[in-house]
Amino acid sequence: MDDLKTNDINTVMSVVKDIISDNEKNKGVLIPTLHKIQSDNGYLPSDTLKELSKVLGLPLAEIYSVASFYKQFHFTPRGKNIVRVCTGTACHVRGASKVLHALEDNFDVKAGSTTEDLKMTLETVGCVGCCGLAPVITVNEDVVGTVNAKKLKEIITDLDEGKDYGKN
Ligand code: FES
Repeated sequence: MDDLKTNDINTVMSVVKDIISDNEKNKGVLIPTLHKIQSDNGYLPSDTLKELSKVLGLPLAEIYSVASFYKQFHFTPRGKNIVRVCTGTACHVRGASKVLHALEDNFDVKAGSTTEDLKMTLETVGCVGCCGLAPVITVNEDVVGTVNAKKLKEIITDLDEGKDYGKN
């Protein structure tokens, strides 16, 4: 293969620059920037997204559209602990709805939302792959299987007391 001469490289760079507009370059940094914003704040604050829109020269609607496409981005503050109740078939059969209702009642929060004191975000999730341990919940990174009344009470107490649960 022939070595590229400087002139060849300049020609290639010029072609690439023509093809990749500034707008497209800014789109390329959008997702990593959204990740950083969420990592710093726990969610994507609307004021920060407005600033990002100005800095990148991208319409705010486009930023929301991209962020909404990915499930991992959140537009409202999240709780200190993220509790997910598995509602897959095996867990459903073994009482997932009782577990979910107990958590909803205890923390006065509905699935899909966060407590006012930001102690906990409660969500449901499809099968997490531990069906033999149904019913299953996850607390942050921890998987808790065979959730019974006693176990659930312990978890609720831990969450109430603000214990850092399942964060490595
Ligand atoms: S259905 Fe809950 S872990 Fe599979």
